[in-house]
Amino acid sequence: MTDSLTIIRPDDWHVHLRDGDVLRTVLPYTAKTFARAIVMPNLRPPVTTVARAKTYRDEILAALPAGADFTPLMTLYLTNATDPSDVEMGFAEGSVTAAKLYPANATTNSEHGISDIKKAYPILECMQRIGMPLLIHGEVTDSGVDIFDREAFFIDRALLPLRRDFPALKIVLEHITTEEATAYVAENGGRGTLAATVTAHHLLINRNAIFAGGIRPHYYCLPIAKREKHRQALVKAATMGEAMFFLGTDTAPHVDAAKECACGCAGIFTAPTALELYAQVFDDAGKLDKLEAFASRNGPAFYGLPVNEAQITLKKGRGEEIKPILTQDEQTITSFAPPSPLVWRVG
Ligand code: DOR
Ligand code: ZN
Repeated sequence: MTDSLTIIRPDDWHVHLRDGDVLRTVLPYTAKTFARAIVMPNLRPPVTTVARAKTYRDEILAALPAGADFTPLMTLYLTNATDPSDVEMGFAEGSVTAAKLYPANATTNSEHGISDIKKAYPILECMQRIGMPLLIHGEVTDSGVDIFDREAFFIDRALLPLRRDFPALKIVLEHITTEEATAYVAENGGRGTLAATVTAHHLLINRNAIFAGGIRPHYYCLPIAKREKHRQALVKAATMGEAMFFLGTDTAPHVDAAKECACGCAGIFTAPTALELYAQVFDDAGKLDKLEAFASRNGPAFYGLPVNEAQITLKKGRGEEIKPILTQDEQTITSFAPPSPLVWRVG
């Protein structure tokens, strides 16, 4: 039995750090474990220009605890009005790493997203030419499509035509949740143009968890958790250790007042125990030997970045405790509680 595991320090390829008080509260959790993170741009208002991405990066750096070793990798939120020359300039100077495509109204703060993918074609042409990754929230927004089918429909209706029109564009299908997405990425990924991130919570819960004994707002996120067979497909895909799947927590904090109400926000906050949650999944699958590839090697390889030099050690025994987090203005943020108690902790 393995009760200690040392791996290369990981990166988180999908985080919501927010701004202001919430940023200062949640950032230390991501920065203690992860060396780098792809920072989502869906602030209010969204990060739509390189100039704004730079001021947001400065705000993140100013909020880091003393001595932290953490690099935020900034992203741009694509809108119908994004200027390709701004995107190209930001990528060339290294101030933005990727751009995010939110179909308009797909999720939290996505109302300024792309309403018609054809409108984004000039930007996508530019990104394909310069080798800049496109990060996709892969759900159709047609209200006639059942919420549990929105990802699978997106692959057929939007991703296939997009990849046909831009065969060399580097695409990350973010936070995949279905058997269909794992199969599509397993078959078409691995050649440097397609990969997927997988969250810890989608590896740990299925849709029953959202309704177990009552409605559980802290298990509600988008894309929503699916049937058990989909969770199993995700576990299989992530724990293979193959290049096209890597870690992206999609940790998405909302204060409890915004989750525990008549119309609660989507988002699950996993940052305090993110790596421990993944370790639990890989351990349960008998695949701890693949955690380093998934958490620390496959992401940098896709993004063309070096792997980190530092290492991190996980220990098995008394797991990390799950507790609510208090913001500086005294609001609480509930952390994700896995269905069975954690048995891993960092350090
Ligand atoms: O559950 C989610 N929360 N899904 C998203 O795509 C956005 C995120 C957020 O920003 O809260
Ligand atoms: Zn997200």
